[in-house]
Amino acid sequence: MAKAAKSSKSKKTVRNLETVIIEKEDGIAWCIFNRPEKRNAMSPQLHLDMNQALDELAIDPEVNVVIITGAGKAFSAGQDIRLYFRGTTEDPAKRHKAKHASHAWRWTKLASFPKPTIAMVNGYCFGGAFTQVSACDFAIAADDAVFGLSEINWGILPGGIVSWNVVEMMTMRDAMYYACTGETFTGKQASAMRFITKSVPKAKLRAETVKLAKLLQQKSPAALRYTKEGVRAVRYMSVDQAADYLNAKSDALKYVDKERSREKGMKQFLDDKTYRPGLGHFDRSKDL
Ligand code: COA
Repeated sequence: MAKAAKSSKSKKTVRNLETVIIEKEDGIAWCIFNRPEKRNAMSPQLHLDMNQALDELAIDPEVNVVIITGAGKAFSAGQDIRLYFRGTTEDPAKRHKAKHASHAWRWTKLASFPKPTIAMVNGYCFGGAFTQVSACDFAIAADDAVFGLSEINWGILPGGIVSWNVVEMMTMRDAMYYACTGETFTGKQASAMRFITKSVPKAKLRAETVKLAKLLQQKSPAALRYTKEGVRAVRYMSVDQAADYLNAKSDALKYVDKERSREKGMKQFLDDKTYRPGLGHFDRSKDL
């Protein structure tokens, strides 16, 4: 029988890619955009680095949760207007490569990431950066973080899939207003609009984010992965399709969950009477 992985303490490791730092500690991987002098604007190189980082972290046995954030005072100022837009205008091959890499990590890989993901929005978040915030399972921002769909302010539309992201996450009224005016809104407002999970004072941002990451690590990784995949997948299904899909997914979970969480959860509640599922989680570290 597979023994449950504990959310053990581990030594911090740091790896520097050209534009992204990967820090790993206690089951948590921090992906830190590292162009603070450019407010973490996303260059073609940053897209390549983030693809590499996510590919590695998806299969890294030491990592249970991934947090994405920015170095310095910005989360990300969106696509790099010089390097991503102007720098690829005359070169279709370069443009294609940058666009593909940009979409791959910010949506395809993040939205289907096998482990929980958290966007920790520490400051400026503009334009294209809305996609990775939307793709993460959770987003926690500083109360005073500044969000903006600034595309209209320099004569383009919220492209890539940003317009789709905002109508999916916000009300149509909010999406239309902020897309057409380019007005900014704060972390507090983003929380009230439900664009993010919550906002907290900046001094508490890291601690609150780590608290969520720790809570997630108490859950069965297999159940968590299937839950997040299920929640995303059923959204655009009919009720009959959803029922069929969720039945099949539940059966598949019993097969893939080597920790046998379901049996443990039932045993600890019904037989051992050591916890109440309505009020907390079973003890993963205990064998069946
Ligand atoms: N693309 C390219 N360069 C960017 C950038 C972006 N999206 N955002 C910031 N930078 C660069 C600036 O050009 C400047 O470079 P320089 O030092 O070589 O002149 C540097 O980052 C610092 O920016 P600055 O504007 O001086 O910082 P600030 O703290 O006063 O303001 C922002 C920060 C984010 C409000 C401001 O830089 C901004 O509006 N950026 C554009 C945001 C945007 O519209 N993004 C959407 C793109 S689709």
